[in-house]
Amino acid sequence: MVFADKIDALPLHSRTPGAWGHAVLADPINLLIDHAFLEKKAAMNAMELMTRWPEEWAPGWVETMTRVARDEAAHLAQVVKILLSRGGRLGRTHKCQYATDLRQLVRKGETGDTLDRLLVSALIEARSCERFSVLSVAAAELNDPELSAFYTALFSSELGHFKVFLRLGYKMMDKAAVDRRWHQLLAAEAKVLAQQLPGPRIHSGLEI
Ligand SMILES: [Fe+2]
Ligand SMILES: [Fe+2]
Repeated sequence: MVFADKIDALPLHSRTPGAWGHAVLADPINLLIDHAFLEKKAAMNAMELMTRWPEEWAPGWVETMTRVARDEAAHLAQVVKILLSRGGRLGRTHKCQYATDLRQLVRKGETGDTLDRLLVSALIEARSCERFSVLSVAAAELNDPELSAFYTALFSSELGHFKVFLRLGYKMMDKAAVDRRWHQLLAAEAKVLAQQLPGPRIHSGLEI
């Protein structure tokens, strides 16, 4: 696998088996619809974070969030293009229980709130990377080179976003405090993911 080393380096507490990729790719239209909404949410999240810069180190914050939002909007356009070419279409509403559950871990209060939002954003990016790597391999095995190449291309972009959010998080507080929170959230993410229902979604649970 081209990105095996990068996947191994991700600090996630659980790994997705290849069987999950085959299971969700049995319904590629609904997987693409879910994916499109995730990209939309990721763009909106970056736009929302754009106005939350901490007083002390605003330089670069707005530009970074603008860049992430632009990347996510480009991903959205790519997903929608593939979706439409395969006869699907976007719905009006969408529910992502995984992201909802993770956002509930965000503490209230200015500094903790922004730190947690950055770390949760980093977690979602890291997990998306991991899932795209599994999907890329599964799509290749299912003779779908278009989707395989697409997931490979997104992998690098989301890995970059993961690093950006984590780096910003580590600028917010002293290293020991961020380390502590980051390790709590990494453990929580694996639990949240394991509780998700199975189905054709990027952050779905495994069939048992
Ligand atoms: Fe994206
Ligand atoms: Fe992203």
